[in-house]
Amino acid sequence: MPESRVPRRRRFLVCEPRHFAVQYAINPWMHPDKPVDVDLARGQWAELIRAYRDHGHTVDTVEPVADLPDMVFAANSALVLEGRVFGSLFHAPERRPESTVYESWFRSAGYDVYRAGSVCEGEGDLIPAGRWVLAGTGFRTTREAHHEVQEFFGVPVIGLRLVDPYFYHLDTALFVLDEGYEANIAYYPEAFSPGSRKVLARLYPDAVLATRQDAMAFGLNSVSDGRHVFIAPRAKELADQLARQGYVPVPVDLSEFHKAGGGIKCCTQEIRS
Ligand code: ARG
Repeated sequence: MPESRVPRRRRFLVCEPRHFAVQYAINPWMHPDKPVDVDLARGQWAELIRAYRDHGHTVDTVEPVADLPDMVFAANSALVLEGRVFGSLFHAPERRPESTVYESWFRSAGYDVYRAGSVCEGEGDLIPAGRWVLAGTGFRTTREAHHEVQEFFGVPVIGLRLVDPYFYHLDTALFVLDEGYEANIAYYPEAFSPGSRKVLARLYPDAVLATRQDAMAFGLNSVSDGRHVFIAPRAKELADQLARQGYVPVPVDLSEFHKAGGGIKCCTQEIRS
């Protein structure tokens, strides 16, 4: 274990939850009949942004659009690597219009945007982790999109099959702890097919494994800067494990967003230059 883990400053894109709501159900967390407290959600979200800025990260915002209640989940908008943007094509018709809104933001920020030809939900299912991009499939992003991503970035893509509908996006079951050739990850093994579990065990023998309880508390929907891990406070055991490994857990409660099936990472798109 390194004496002291070193953070790297990140650039994040986020979307204020002004129009956040649960109006339809496209994952098992969503119950349109149960109310969402939008004021509480806005307060929780503001805490996340404050925590990022307090830790030296740059946060850009995209203007929210009425009637796109899931737009707050910025991570689904694209995968950005080496300043190149692979834009999303959403699975649910309700979310499809988000692509053009995010695309305009990227264009105005000076990026070209590649449009996915097959369903692909950005960093929800595509996670750069060391030498590879880990790519989820089974509920949203397709195998065809994995091939497209590999072709576009020229980075090997490792396809992983998700099997539990509560963990419908890869970023609900796995996150990256640090960077570089030997990057490590944390994940919940039971969210994956037996073969995919073996792949993860081979690639990341020292990974931190989370319990179902911590995964259901959105503990794996975390953001790490290499030192600080912005993590759901209810994922207590996982936070303790990370602390024992020299990471510094920074608890941020996004409980209102769990009602839509999202957490910290879902609200955070990383722009890698
Ligand atoms: N309600 C949204 C959906 O089901 C939540 C997206 C969460 N985002 C994520 N990166 N996991 O599409």
